[in-house]
Amino acid sequence: VKFKYPFIKPSFPEATYLIKSYEKIVENNWYTNFGPFEKQLCKDINSFIGINIKSTTVASATLGLDVAIKVILKGSKKDKNQVIMPSFTFVAGAEVLISNGYTPVLVDINKDWQPDIVQAEENINKNTVGILLCNTFGVGNPQIREWEALSNKYNIPLIVDSAAGFGSLYEDGLAVGSAGNCEIFSFHATKPFAIGEGGAITSNDPKLINEFRKTQNFGFNDKKQVELIGTNAKLQELNCAIGISKMKTFSKNILKRQEKLSYYKKLLAPIGFIFQPNDDKSTVPFCSAVAQKKIDTQNLINKLQANGIEAKKYYTPIHKFTAINKYSINSNKLSMTENIYSGIINLPIYDNMHHKDIKYISDTITKYIQ
Ligand SMILES: Cc1ncc(COP(=O)(O)O)c(C=O)c1O
Repeated sequence: VKFKYPFIKPSFPEATYLIKSYEKIVENNWYTNFGPFEKQLCKDINSFIGINIKSTTVASATLGLDVAIKVILKGSKKDKNQVIMPSFTFVAGAEVLISNGYTPVLVDINKDWQPDIVQAEENINKNTVGILLCNTFGVGNPQIREWEALSNKYNIPLIVDSAAGFGSLYEDGLAVGSAGNCEIFSFHATKPFAIGEGGAITSNDPKLINEFRKTQNFGFNDKKQVELIGTNAKLQELNCAIGISKMKTFSKNILKRQEKLSYYKKLLAPIGFIFQPNDDKSTVPFCSAVAQKKIDTQNLINKLQANGIEAKKYYTPIHKFTAINKYSINSNKLSMTENIYSGIINLPIYDNMHHKDIKYISDTITKYIQ
């Protein structure tokens, strides 16, 4: 189906830029494996996130999570393998944990739609080896400093899945990408910083970044010895070139996206929708709105789609997937997760969307809920 308003419309680089970059790649004789474009993109990411932040690029956020988990949680024993994470997130983090032999312990979200820190602490026990905090919809968790304190208190690492949050800020103004042991970003086509497939891991610990770079290259060290069990998570030069070009206009595009979100809010708040705290400091992958009244949001989404608007519902809580549930622990106290999921609709936002488009989408919603 072709929608008049597809859910995602990435800003693609100019074809001439791609051709030039490709010619440079040929001249460099360097397709992949940490080439000059990759090194430049890392530098750009470091200065974008802030002082003392180092990064490595990865072929996807999922592989970034894999690399981070392999490095940070290494050494934990089979009987000590629980990792606390929310159910209200994308499934990738849980899949990576499970395939590395860990057991996700799924906790609820709070009124901010962010992981519930009280439930998290209740679930910490002698088998807990880490926390996979997920910044819901890439919005910086307003309680991030409390999560860091929790991680220090119990001496367990805090890995932050900020897939959609490249360019977002925490409430205190520090960049998403600077918290916990490390943060993982996605540069997938569906994200505001879209390069096709790709991502990055950022940390203020350069030693950790060094370990990530070995792990993402089969565990090879400088002497070409396999020092640890790794994988292949390297990002190709051409994707890095796209990232470098994207970076040039990204700050401006974030402002544009935030402005569109604020227009959506202006139109949707009076008809009973609420929004996520701190979303105005995020990169806004899309508009997420929760209906305060009990309405059939799936039916509303179907109606919007029939009108050419590709609305969606994120995230399907991961405890609802039988394959995930089978390998996870779940306290059965996921009521906020259920409530938010039931009331949520996610609406398209593009860098260059017009107010009249947002008005049309909002008018269509109004028509169907009244
Ligand atoms: C929270 C979260 N984690 C991980 C991912 C996976 O990212 P990628 O597609 O780059 O592997 C996504 C992608 O949607 C996500 O939203």
